[in-house]
Amino acid sequence: MALYSEKVMDHFRNPRNVGIIEDADGVGEVGNAKCGDIMKMYLKIEDDIIKDVKFETFGCGSAIASSSMATELIKGKPVSEARQLTNKAVAEALDGLPDYKMHCSVLAQEAIESALQDYESKKEQK
Ligand code: FES
Repeated sequence: MALYSEKVMDHFRNPRNVGIIEDADGVGEVGNAKCGDIMKMYLKIEDDIIKDVKFETFGCGSAIASSSMATELIKGKPVSEARQLTNKAVAEALDGLPDYKMHCSVLAQEAIESALQDYESKKEQK
């Protein structure tokens, strides 16, 4: 059996939503100290709906595929739904990740959580 699913390879080779959002409503950056990978998420939110999401990932193929899939899973969704995204759901949507690569999907979940936290704290300041 191939180590990586077709979906992982597809999202690694053709990642969706790569880039930055200049006037983002929430930005989150997280890293994994062990592997040194870094992920940054940008959210554009209107009426509590994720209108747009972009990411930059400096990391392994699974981290790129996980960020790409995570952005696809939350795009167009309400903030409340995005907040519930788990790394397991990201990995499942990719048809699985090897055990030792599960932390890459955790990074995607944490990056979104961090961007949502940033959004909430900016909202409170308004
Ligand atoms: Fe660390 Fe993939 S090896 S995020």
